[in-house]
Amino acid sequence: MILIAWKHGTIPRPAPGTGFKVHFIKQDGEKVTVEANKDESLLDVARANDLDVEGACEASLACSTCHLILDEESFNKLEEPSDEENDMLDLAYGLTDTSRLGCQVLMCKELDGLTAKIPSATRNMYVDGAKPKHH
Ligand code: FES
Repeated sequence: MILIAWKHGTIPRPAPGTGFKVHFIKQDGEKVTVEANKDESLLDVARANDLDVEGACEASLACSTCHLILDEESFNKLEEPSDEENDMLDLAYGLTDTSRLGCQVLMCKELDGLTAKIPSATRNMYVDGAKPKHH
């Protein structure tokens, strides 16, 4: 088996009309519809489309800056969050009943058409408040 490590930002985007649809609702209320690859995390989908989802710990479950609020139908299709995800969700700003960490939700056929609201703020645990640069 050959494993290929994609550098962030180099994962090819799905050809128009072939990916799973994800509707993001930005902080200002604007709805943006983008397409996702299979098994691509919502964090990576957001970043690939220049949406403001931070992901400070690069999906290592050590922050809550990838917090997204999902539509209820999609949320109910997901498996329960792990204990580690729940611990980080507890720290998320504006936690809701349908909150998940964007780095832990991988797109698949069942989630096609998912809506994810980007919270108006995140709680960045970096002491200096610096935002990491995306690669
Ligand atoms: Fe830190 Fe998702 S990027 S938990």
